[in-house]
Amino acid sequence: MTSLTQLSQAIHDAPRWHQAEQFQNPEEISIIPLQGEALGAVVFGLDARKAQAGETIYRLKQALAEHLILIFKKQTLDDLQYLAFTSYFGSIFHPSADNPVLATQSDTGTPPDVIPVSNAVGQGDYTGHGELSPHADHQWTPQPSFGSLLYAIELPEDGGQTSWFNTIQAYEALDRDTQKHIDELQLITYNPFVRRQQLQDHDSNGYGTSPLYRFKDQPIIGHAYPHPLVRTHPESGRKALWLNTRSEVELVNYDDQAGSELIASLREHILKPEFRYEHQWEIGDIVFWDNQVTLHSRRPFPSDQRRLLKRISLAGSRPF
Ligand code: OGA
Ligand code: MN
Repeated sequence: MTSLTQLSQAIHDAPRWHQAEQFQNPEEISIIPLQGEALGAVVFGLDARKAQAGETIYRLKQALAEHLILIFKKQTLDDLQYLAFTSYFGSIFHPSADNPVLATQSDTGTPPDVIPVSNAVGQGDYTGHGELSPHADHQWTPQPSFGSLLYAIELPEDGGQTSWFNTIQAYEALDRDTQKHIDELQLITYNPFVRRQQLQDHDSNGYGTSPLYRFKDQPIIGHAYPHPLVRTHPESGRKALWLNTRSEVELVNYDDQAGSELIASLREHILKPEFRYEHQWEIGDIVFWDNQVTLHSRRPFPSDQRRLLKRISLAGSRPF
């Protein structure tokens, strides 16, 4: 017999309903929205190693679409258990080699299923220890991931908090005229990893040196996929701003100066504290976020302190 991939092995080995001690009773699970925060709910009583009931996964999917991030506490998973839990929610995000992303491997042209997001050498030093400005993952690809999970294994004493921003609320807080104007616009987000390869730029997060807006006399870096600036959430139908705050973007068929000013003012708007929740990590936390209608950022932390989170990203649709 041929050997299984990591994901197939994970699903093969996962506990099933008939193993009573490994089956999670749905009545033990509660989903509590964060009070006074722009987004987020905490899931109590769920052990992600166990087989889950259909109603539990359905409730979690509904809660994710409503609260945009789900926080699971006190988990202890190996990579196969983590993959098995995550596989209830969709396929792993695997962009093609012509659209490089964080952790794309030179031999396979794709990232591993479980990505070590860490500053420690030998564990996949993909994001260093610096600040990461608010972004959606994989926004420059034709079909960005719908969501990701980060699982905290090792944490620094200081810093390294991750924030999420509710871009539905950011859209809804705009005045009607601005909403109507931007509803029709298409935005290109240029791939920061292509820029990094082409310019031999060793900036640790890939965003540091790119311009914020491409004027038409500037070179085009990598493939360009226009997506709606205002996207619709596939399940809830709610509209959200689909714009990160730092990488190079361009509005399609739009005046350079006016476009760069519009984007700058929308970016400033998104950063308002009322749209943001900052997560103070504890070991064993998993945060599962909807990447379609949120941005996330990270505070820097000292380079001599170790931080390791494991990320799994799930495939999504072309934004609409
Ligand atoms: C990511 C990311 C933030 C963090 O893995 O996509 O942005 O807090 N991580 O490490
Ligand atoms: Mn990210």
